[in-house]
Amino acid sequence: MDVRLDDKVAIVTGGSRGIGQAIAEEFLRSGATGVVVTSRRPENAEVAAAAIGEATGRPEAIEAVVARADSRDDADRTVAFAVERFGSCDILVNNAGTNPSAGMLADVDQAAVEKTWQVNQMGPLLWSQAAWHGWMGANGGTIINTASLGGLRPGAVLGAYNVSKAALIFMTRQMALEMAPGVRVNAVAPAVVKTKLSAMLWTGNEAGAAAMHPLNRLGEVEDVANAVTFLASDKASWITGVTLPIDGGVDGTGASGTLA
Ligand SMILES: NC(=O)c1ccc[n+]([C@@H]2O[C@H](COP(=O)([O-])OP(=O)(O)OC[C@H]3O[C@@H](n4cnc5c(N)ncnc54)[C@H](OP(=O)(O)O)[C@@H]3O)[C@@H](O)[C@H]2O)c1
Repeated sequence: MDVRLDDKVAIVTGGSRGIGQAIAEEFLRSGATGVVVTSRRPENAEVAAAAIGEATGRPEAIEAVVARADSRDDADRTVAFAVERFGSCDILVNNAGTNPSAGMLADVDQAAVEKTWQVNQMGPLLWSQAAWHGWMGANGGTIINTASLGGLRPGAVLGAYNVSKAALIFMTRQMALEMAPGVRVNAVAPAVVKTKLSAMLWTGNEAGAAAMHPLNRLGEVEDVANAVTFLASDKASWITGVTLPIDGGVDGTGASGTLA
Protein backbone atom coordinates (compact mmCIF):
# COMPACT_ATOMS: atom_id res chain seq x y z
CA MET A 1 0.00 0.00 0.00
CA ASP A 2 1.36 3.37 -1.02
CA VAL A 3 0.22 5.92 1.57
CA ARG A 4 0.37 9.34 -0.09
CA LEU A 5 -0.60 12.86 0.95
CA ASP A 6 -0.14 14.54 -2.43
CA ASP A 7 -2.01 17.85 -2.81
CA LYS A 8 -2.71 18.03 0.92
CA VAL A 9 -1.71 20.78 3.32
CA ALA A 10 -1.31 20.08 7.04
CA ILE A 11 -0.96 21.89 10.35
CA VAL A 12 0.82 20.04 13.16
CA THR A 13 0.62 21.75 16.56
CA GLY A 14 3.63 21.20 18.81
CA GLY A 15 5.78 20.33 15.82
CA SER A 16 9.05 21.73 17.16
CA ARG A 17 10.33 18.38 18.45
CA GLY A 18 9.37 14.84 19.39
CA ILE A 19 6.28 13.21 17.91
CA GLY A 20 5.04 16.37 16.17
CA GLN A 21 8.31 16.90 14.34
CA ALA A 22 8.32 13.27 13.20
CA ILE A 23 4.73 13.61 11.93
CA ALA A 24 5.66 16.73 9.94
CA GLU A 25 8.61 14.93 8.38
CA GLU A 26 6.59 11.86 7.44
CA PHE A 27 3.85 14.04 5.92
CA LEU A 28 6.42 15.73 3.69
CA ARG A 29 8.05 12.43 2.71
CA SER A 30 4.56 11.24 1.76
CA GLY A 31 4.14 14.11 -0.68
CA ALA A 32 2.18 16.73 1.26
CA THR A 33 2.14 20.06 -0.57
CA GLY A 34 3.04 21.92 2.59
CA VAL A 35 3.20 21.51 6.35
CA VAL A 36 2.91 24.23 9.00
CA VAL A 37 4.29 23.33 12.45
CA THR A 38 3.65 25.39 15.57
CA SER A 39 5.72 26.16 18.63
CA ARG A 40 5.42 28.68 21.45
CA ARG A 41 8.96 29.91 20.96
CA PRO A 42 10.39 31.64 17.85
CA GLU A 43 13.80 30.02 18.31
CA ASN A 44 12.27 26.50 18.52
CA ALA A 45 10.10 27.18 15.48
CA GLU A 46 13.02 28.32 13.36
CA VAL A 47 15.29 25.43 14.35
CA ALA A 48 12.51 22.89 13.76
CA ALA A 49 11.62 24.23 10.33
CA ALA A 50 15.27 24.11 9.26
CA ALA A 51 15.72 20.58 10.61
CA ILE A 52 12.52 19.27 8.99
CA GLY A 53 13.42 20.90 5.67
CA GLU A 54 16.86 19.34 5.72
CA ALA A 55 15.69 15.89 6.85
CA THR A 56 13.10 15.66 4.08
CA GLY A 57 14.91 17.60 1.36
CA ARG A 58 11.83 19.83 1.08
CA PRO A 59 12.67 23.15 2.76
CA GLU A 60 10.24 25.01 0.50
CA ALA A 61 7.32 22.98 1.85
CA ILE A 62 7.76 23.58 5.60
CA GLU A 63 6.76 26.65 7.58
CA ALA A 64 6.90 27.22 11.33
CA VAL A 65 4.50 29.54 13.13
CA VAL A 66 4.75 30.81 16.69
CA ALA A 67 1.44 29.94 18.32
CA ARG A 68 0.02 28.77 21.61
CA ALA A 69 -1.81 25.47 21.66
CA ASP A 70 -4.65 26.94 23.74
CA SER A 71 -5.34 30.14 21.76
CA ARG A 72 -8.25 30.40 19.32
CA ASP A 73 -6.76 33.62 17.90
CA ASP A 74 -3.47 31.85 17.20
CA ALA A 75 -5.35 28.92 15.67
CA ASP A 76 -7.39 31.18 13.35
CA ARG A 77 -4.22 33.00 12.32
CA THR A 78 -2.39 29.72 11.60
CA VAL A 79 -5.22 28.24 9.53
CA ALA A 80 -5.43 31.47 7.50
CA PHE A 81 -1.66 31.36 7.01
CA ALA A 82 -1.74 27.75 5.76
CA VAL A 83 -4.49 28.60 3.27
CA GLU A 84 -2.71 31.71 2.05
CA ARG A 85 0.77 30.13 1.85
CA PHE A 86 -0.09 26.63 0.53
CA GLY A 87 -3.68 26.94 -0.74
CA SER A 88 -5.69 24.83 1.72
CA CYS A 89 -5.86 23.27 5.20
CA ASP A 90 -6.75 19.62 4.68
CA ILE A 91 -5.16 18.03 7.77
CA LEU A 92 -4.97 19.23 11.37
CA VAL A 93 -2.94 17.26 13.90
CA ASN A 94 -3.70 18.39 17.45
CA ASN A 95 -0.40 17.15 18.83
CA ALA A 96 0.84 19.78 21.31
CA GLY A 97 0.58 18.47 24.83
CA THR A 98 1.88 19.08 28.29
CA ASN A 99 2.25 17.30 31.58
CA PRO A 100 3.29 19.63 34.39
CA SER A 101 1.98 17.44 37.19
CA ALA A 102 2.25 13.89 38.45
CA GLY A 103 0.66 12.02 41.27
CA MET A 104 -2.75 11.19 42.70
CA LEU A 105 -5.68 13.39 41.68
CA ALA A 106 -6.42 13.77 45.39
CA ASP A 107 -3.20 15.71 45.83
CA VAL A 108 -2.61 17.44 42.53
CA ASP A 109 -2.14 21.21 42.41
CA GLN A 110 -5.08 23.15 40.89
CA ALA A 111 -2.92 25.42 38.70
CA ALA A 112 -1.11 22.41 37.22
CA VAL A 113 -4.41 20.66 36.46
CA GLU A 114 -5.82 23.78 34.82
CA LYS A 115 -2.76 24.10 32.57
CA THR A 116 -2.88 20.41 31.63
CA TRP A 117 -6.56 20.49 30.74
CA GLN A 118 -6.26 23.84 28.97
CA VAL A 119 -3.48 22.68 26.63
CA ASN A 120 -4.44 19.00 26.17
CA GLN A 121 -8.22 19.32 26.04
CA MET A 122 -9.28 22.92 25.34
CA GLY A 123 -6.46 23.36 22.79
CA PRO A 124 -7.65 20.63 20.40
CA LEU A 125 -11.21 21.99 20.64
CA LEU A 126 -10.12 25.54 19.74
CA TRP A 127 -7.85 24.45 16.87
CA SER A 128 -10.52 22.12 15.49
CA GLN A 129 -13.02 24.99 15.58
CA ALA A 130 -10.54 27.17 13.70
CA ALA A 131 -9.91 24.48 11.07
CA TRP A 132 -13.64 23.87 10.64
CA HIS A 133 -14.53 27.54 10.21
CA GLY A 134 -11.37 28.47 8.31
CA TRP A 135 -11.40 25.67 5.73
CA MET A 136 -12.70 22.19 6.52
CA GLY A 137 -16.38 22.95 7.11
CA ALA A 138 -16.73 24.11 3.51
CA ASN A 139 -14.02 22.03 1.84
CA GLY A 140 -13.58 18.84 3.90
CA GLY A 141 -10.53 17.53 5.66
CA THR A 142 -9.35 15.37 8.52
CA ILE A 143 -8.34 15.92 12.14
CA ILE A 144 -6.08 13.64 14.17
CA ASN A 145 -5.68 14.09 17.92
CA THR A 146 -2.62 12.84 19.79
CA ALA A 147 -4.22 11.30 22.87
CA SER A 148 -2.50 8.72 25.08
CA LEU A 149 -2.85 5.18 26.33
CA GLY A 150 -3.42 6.89 29.67
CA GLY A 151 -6.71 8.19 28.27
CA LEU A 152 -7.91 4.63 27.66
CA ARG A 153 -7.10 3.18 31.09
CA PRO A 154 -6.19 4.61 34.48
CA GLY A 155 -2.50 4.57 35.38
CA ALA A 156 -0.59 5.03 38.59
CA VAL A 157 1.47 8.09 37.75
CA LEU A 158 -0.22 10.77 35.62
CA GLY A 159 -3.79 11.26 36.86
CA ALA A 160 -4.58 14.79 35.63
CA TYR A 161 -2.92 14.13 32.28
CA ASN A 162 -4.83 10.87 31.82
CA VAL A 163 -8.16 12.59 32.48
CA SER A 164 -7.33 15.25 29.86
CA LYS A 165 -6.54 12.56 27.28
CA ALA A 166 -9.72 10.61 28.11
CA ALA A 167 -11.69 13.79 27.43
CA LEU A 168 -9.80 14.20 24.14
CA ILE A 169 -10.72 10.65 23.13
CA PHE A 170 -14.40 11.29 23.79
CA MET A 171 -14.16 14.63 21.97
CA THR A 172 -12.72 12.75 19.00
CA ARG A 173 -15.85 10.58 18.83
CA GLN A 174 -18.21 13.52 19.39
CA MET A 175 -16.57 15.65 16.69
CA ALA A 176 -16.42 12.71 14.29
CA LEU A 177 -20.21 12.45 14.54
CA GLU A 178 -20.79 16.19 14.26
CA MET A 179 -18.37 16.79 11.38
CA ALA A 180 -19.24 13.77 9.20
CA PRO A 181 -19.37 13.22 6.32
CA GLY A 182 -17.00 15.98 5.23
CA VAL A 183 -14.40 15.77 7.96
CA ARG A 184 -12.97 12.62 9.52
CA VAL A 185 -11.77 12.87 13.13
CA ASN A 186 -9.55 10.20 14.70
CA ALA A 187 -7.01 9.88 17.50
CA VAL A 188 -3.89 7.92 18.35
CA ALA A 189 -3.10 6.67 21.84
CA PRO A 190 0.62 6.06 22.31
CA ALA A 191 2.16 4.34 25.33
CA VAL A 192 5.68 5.45 26.29
CA VAL A 193 7.46 7.02 23.32
CA LYS A 194 11.04 8.25 23.73
CA THR A 195 10.73 12.05 23.81
CA LYS A 196 11.50 14.92 26.17
CA LEU A 197 7.94 14.80 27.56
CA SER A 198 8.22 11.17 28.66
CA ALA A 199 11.87 11.21 29.75
CA MET A 200 10.99 11.08 33.45
CA LEU A 201 9.21 7.76 32.86
CA TRP A 202 12.17 5.85 31.46
CA THR A 203 15.49 7.68 31.89
CA GLY A 204 17.83 5.44 33.85
CA ASN A 205 15.54 2.42 33.53
CA GLU A 206 14.82 1.97 29.84
CA ALA A 207 14.95 -1.83 29.93
CA GLY A 208 12.50 -1.93 32.81
CA ALA A 209 10.14 0.52 31.13
CA ALA A 210 10.38 -1.40 27.86
CA ALA A 211 9.51 -4.67 29.61
CA MET A 212 6.11 -3.23 30.57
CA HIS A 213 5.19 -3.33 26.87
CA PRO A 214 4.52 -6.84 25.44
CA LEU A 215 6.66 -6.01 22.37
CA ASN A 216 9.49 -5.24 24.83
CA ARG A 217 10.63 -1.86 23.61
CA LEU A 218 9.67 1.76 24.04
CA GLY A 219 8.00 3.59 21.17
CA GLU A 220 9.96 5.64 18.67
CA VAL A 221 8.48 8.84 17.27
CA GLU A 222 8.28 7.19 13.84
CA ASP A 223 5.89 4.54 15.24
CA VAL A 224 3.36 7.29 15.87
CA ALA A 225 4.15 9.32 12.73
CA ASN A 226 3.52 6.31 10.47
CA ALA A 227 0.09 5.64 11.98
CA VAL A 228 -0.91 9.31 11.87
CA THR A 229 0.12 9.52 8.21
CA PHE A 230 -2.11 6.56 7.39
CA LEU A 231 -5.06 8.06 9.27
CA ALA A 232 -4.51 11.38 7.47
CA SER A 233 -4.44 9.75 4.05
CA ASP A 234 -7.28 8.78 1.73
CA LYS A 235 -6.40 5.12 2.46
CA ALA A 236 -8.26 5.71 5.75
CA SER A 237 -11.27 7.32 4.05
CA TRP A 238 -13.80 4.98 5.76
CA ILE A 239 -12.35 5.42 9.25
CA THR A 240 -13.62 8.08 11.64
CA GLY A 241 -14.22 8.39 15.37
CA VAL A 242 -11.62 5.79 16.37
CA THR A 243 -8.66 5.93 18.71
CA LEU A 244 -5.77 3.74 17.61
CA PRO A 245 -3.50 2.49 20.40
CA ILE A 246 0.18 2.63 19.40
CA ASP A 247 1.52 0.96 22.46
CA GLY A 248 3.67 -2.11 21.91
CA GLY A 249 0.64 -4.30 22.61
CA VAL A 250 -0.38 -2.99 26.05
CA ASP A 251 -4.05 -2.23 25.40
CA GLY A 252 -4.79 -5.13 23.08
CA THR A 253 -3.31 -7.75 25.37
CA GLY A 254 -4.56 -6.24 28.61
CA ALA A 255 -0.99 -6.12 29.93
CA SER A 256 -0.65 -4.55 33.35
CA GLY A 257 1.98 -2.33 34.89
CA THR A 258 2.43 0.28 32.16
CA LEU A 259 3.82 3.66 33.16
CA ALA A 260 1.70 5.64 30.68
N1 LIG B 1 6.10 10.76 24.56
C1 LIG B 1 5.17 9.95 25.04
O1 LIG B 1 5.46 8.93 25.70
C2 LIG B 1 3.72 10.24 24.76
C3 LIG B 1 2.79 9.23 25.05
C4 LIG B 1 1.45 9.46 24.79
C5 LIG B 1 1.04 10.67 24.27
N2 LIG B 1 1.98 11.65 24.02
C6 LIG B 1 1.48 12.92 23.48
O2 LIG B 1 2.17 13.21 22.29
C7 LIG B 1 2.16 14.63 22.06
C8 LIG B 1 3.56 15.09 21.74
O3 LIG B 1 4.38 14.84 22.85
P1 LIG B 1 5.95 14.56 22.76
O4 LIG B 1 6.22 13.35 23.57
O5 LIG B 1 6.41 14.63 21.37
O6 LIG B 1 6.48 15.81 23.63
P2 LIG B 1 7.66 16.85 23.43
O7 LIG B 1 8.82 16.22 22.77
O8 LIG B 1 7.85 17.47 24.77
O9 LIG B 1 7.00 17.92 22.43
C9 LIG B 1 5.88 18.67 22.84
C10 LIG B 1 5.54 19.67 21.76
O10 LIG B 1 4.38 20.40 22.18
C11 LIG B 1 4.69 21.78 22.19
N3 LIG B 1 4.00 22.40 23.32
C12 LIG B 1 4.02 22.05 24.59
N4 LIG B 1 3.24 22.85 25.32
C13 LIG B 1 2.71 23.74 24.47
C14 LIG B 1 1.82 24.84 24.60
N5 LIG B 1 1.34 25.20 25.80
N6 LIG B 1 1.48 25.55 23.49
C15 LIG B 1 2.00 25.21 22.31
N7 LIG B 1 2.85 24.18 22.10
C16 LIG B 1 3.20 23.46 23.19
C17 LIG B 1 6.19 21.89 22.27
O11 LIG B 1 6.62 23.05 21.57
P3 LIG B 1 7.43 24.28 22.21
O12 LIG B 1 8.00 23.86 23.54
O13 LIG B 1 8.49 24.57 21.18
O14 LIG B 1 6.40 25.34 22.32
C18 LIG B 1 6.63 20.65 21.50
O15 LIG B 1 6.69 20.90 20.10
C19 LIG B 1 1.57 15.25 23.35
O16 LIG B 1 0.22 15.53 23.14
C20 LIG B 1 1.72 14.13 24.36
O17 LIG B 1 0.78 14.24 25.38
C21 LIG B 1 3.29 11.46 24.24
